Order: sequence, then C-alpha cells, then structure tokens
Amino acid sequence: MSQRNSGYERKHNELYETPEWVTGLLIPHLPSGIRRVWEPACGSGNMVKVLEDYFPVLATDISEGADFLKVELPVDANAIITNPPFSLATEFIVHALELMKPVNGFVAMLQSVDFDSAKCRRHLFRNCPEFMTKIVLTKRIVWFEREDGKKAAPSSNHAWYIWGQGGPPAMIVYEP
Ligand SMILES: C[S@@+](CC[C@H](N)C(=O)[O-])C[C@H]1O[C@@H](n2cnc3c(N)ncnc32)[C@H](O)[C@@H]1O
Repeated sequence: MSQRNSGYERKHNELYETPEWVTGLLIPHLPSGIRRVWEPACGSGNMVKVLEDYFPVLATDISEGADFLKVELPVDANAIITNPPFSLATEFIVHALELMKPVNGFVAMLQSVDFDSAKCRRHLFRNCPEFMTKIVLTKRIVWFEREDGKKAAPSSNHAWYIWGQGGPPAMIVYEP
C-alpha cells in the first residue's frame, strides 16, 4: 500500500483487495508440498479465488471475528498466504512464521517493494534463515477505481516475500 498521502481516506481495516493477476504471479514460485493454504485476512476473497484453483484453502478475516494475531497452535494448514493490513505486516509475518514452524510450513506475504530494506526488519530477512524468495512486481498494482471511473494512479511498487522452514538461501525474481 502506498505510504504517500494519496488524497484518499484509508479504508476500514485497510481493506485493499489484491487484483487476481497479483496472486497468479505468486503461484509458480510457491514451494512444492503445500497441502492446505490459509488466507487469514481474506477480505472479500480476491486472493482465495485464485488460490483455490490450486489448493484447498481456509479463508478467515477479522471482519468475521477471526483475529489472526490471536490464533494459537495448532493450525490445519501448511502455508499462510495473504496481503496483510499494512500497519500490522510485521506482526502478521512473525506470527505466521511461528504458526508454520511446527508443520515445516511456508509463508507468503505481499508487501511494498522496500519492506525488506528497513533495519528494524532484519529479523525477517537478512537474519532470518527461513527467508527464501522475493518476487518483485515490475507492474504497479491499481488498488481501487476512482469515483469518477478513472483508474487511481498507483504510486508504489510491491513484492511477494516467501519464507519456508530450512528453505534455500534467499533469491530475487522479477515478475512479470
Ligand atoms: C489489505 S486487505 C487484504 C484483503 C485480501 N487479503 C486481499 O488481498 O484481497 C487486509 C485485510 O486484513 C483484514 N484484517 C485486518 N486486521 C486483521 C487481523 N488482526 N486479523 C485478521 N484479518 C485482519 C481486513 O479486514 C482486510 O480484509
């Protein structure tokens, strides 16, 4: 999500829905062995629509009373994939990694392209043995239509970040 003031009010619960093509780009880069995916901040299900063509999917959201950050072990999935609310992204990733550890599972999160640059997030990237892959989207995401029907000009770039237990050293892929 853009951190720049775009002139638009932020949406309730940061409900910015991920266009289907963005989730589609992730699919070929997911590790093998995924048995069931959990989309824990699913909103109206844009990502779920794509994921369920490939995997059984559990979909939950705080708007239906399921606060992901309060979920405890065990969980019936071995991959957690979402575009989390921007303001809780670090908490979502830390919690997802904790939940996936006992099942040797995977985590994939959509975030801004410079999310891994911050020194305060070294524990999620440079100093995180589970960090596997960064997929840089070279096309910008249009998050919503303007009321006048024109496309809102996207102002930032995004990437998928993937973690797995004992995964290979981190690599960067450029898509599309
Ligand atoms: C950026 S939207 C993404 C929606 C969906 N994942 C997608 O990509 O289309 C963030 C979503 O996180 C949900 N959310 C916010 N805080 C949450 C929490 N603590 N636990 C679960 N869901 C949460 C919001 O209701 C919203 O649906």
